[in-house]
Amino acid sequence: MIEAREISRESVNRILRLKVREDQAFLVASNPVTIAQAHYEPNSWLRGLWSGELPVGLIAMIDIPPATPEADKGFPTNVAYLWRLMIDADQQGKGYGREAMQLAFGQARIWGRSTLCLHVAEKAGSAIGFYRKFGLEPTNRVDDGERLLIGSVRR
Ligand SMILES: CC(C)(COP(=O)(O)OP(=O)(O)OC[C@H]1O[C@@H](n2cnc3c(N)ncnc32)[C@H](O)[C@@H]1OP(=O)(O)O)[C@@H](O)C(=O)NCCC(=O)NCCS
Repeated sequence: MIEAREISRESVNRILRLKVREDQAFLVASNPVTIAQAHYEPNSWLRGLWSGELPVGLIAMIDIPPATPEADKGFPTNVAYLWRLMIDADQQGKGYGREAMQLAFGQARIWGRSTLCLHVAEKAGSAIGFYRKFGLEPTNRVDDGERLLIGSVRR
């Protein structure tokens, strides 16, 4: 069972060191980049993923409220946005990604959102098949070369 824990002065270096495989590096920003950007991202939620005392990954989400005048036209509103998800190369394939999706849906429910969306690269090795297992389906929208996926928040 993994837990999403706030990143602290004591744990930050262990989370910073987690990496996806080299051939996956184009799929997701590195943890140092995500941690830096999260400081400037309003409504963001950033957590380290831990299996007991072992750090296994990182998750970051953004709460997107109902439409505001500044909202990007055509981008979904009133949704939870899964901004970053990575499981360390050595820890993949053990079910942690699946557990992380339950945590993402749980956070969406805490925000009161019933829809979750995210962007995903469509190149070889992409996580599209992973997300489809959780009911997140491709839309017609592409931003910066990445496909927008959307689906219902699961219980
Ligand atoms: C995608 C990722 C988060 C999945 O985490 P994981 O811990 O390896 O996944 P799990 O072991 O929980 O796998 C859950 C299920 O998804 C499947 N799956 C995992 N990665 C997959 C992929 N890239 N494509 C299709 N299915 C995938 C597994 O086979 C498993 O299927 P099953 O339950 O039917 O047996 C992880 O591989 C990762 O960090 N990848 C690199 C970064 C990335 O792509 N992040 C997403 C950016 S949008």
